[in-house]
Amino acid sequence: MIVTIDGVAASGKSSVASGVARALGVPYVSSGLLYRAATLLGQQAALDLREVTGLISHLQAHALRLEPLSEGNRVWLGEQDLTGDLHSTQVDRDVSVVAAHPEVRAWVDEQLRALPAPFVAEGRDMGTNVFPQAAAKFYLTASPRVRAERRAHERPEDVAAIEAALVERDTLDTTQSAPAEDARVIDTGPLSLQGVIETILSTLPK
Ligand code: CDP
Repeated sequence: MIVTIDGVAASGKSSVASGVARALGVPYVSSGLLYRAATLLGQQAALDLREVTGLISHLQAHALRLEPLSEGNRVWLGEQDLTGDLHSTQVDRDVSVVAAHPEVRAWVDEQLRALPAPFVAEGRDMGTNVFPQAAAKFYLTASPRVRAERRAHERPEDVAAIEAALVERDTLDTTQSAPAEDARVIDTGPLSLQGVIETILSTLPK
């Protein structure tokens, strides 16, 4: 069984996906980490991230591997664990440009589709493009201010700057982020993390 949890930036997808996956005893899959790793590799090589040809050949020459665990996903470049560098403000700033290239999306999708089910997949287009056959689909939202306040614990900037960057990323991500027609949309604003996890678990097919 595949469960998809999509949603806007900082809507709590990873924490929710991890909680749901742990309750089900399966891994979760963070698609955003692969987009973040592609961005980091491009930045480290000083590539023009708007130029997809150079970026794709660079990605093909460097084997990135997503390790989906229920406690937290990791991304490996050979023996090197890149995970700790993937949530910087610089990666946040450029990731939407990288993710907008259809070739980069195909590179990510191929890796995701090769993973053995069952799992919980989280991202932007898990329920629409990557796993349209999923058994259950969810889409998480929350107001920009609520999301910025949550992310303020993980970034050095103040809430107003984080909120502005989130709103900009929402706009850049619009084409790749929409709820599937058969997704259940959950406003996480009034709910605790555990509340969102329980809402999802209670509506899963038995
Ligand atoms: O944690 P947050 O919601 O900020 O982001 P993420 O899930 O780590 O995704 C980072 C970026 O990757 C997003 O802003 C999108 O540009 C891109 N992304 C995407 O295009 N499609 C996905 N399935 C997942 C992420």
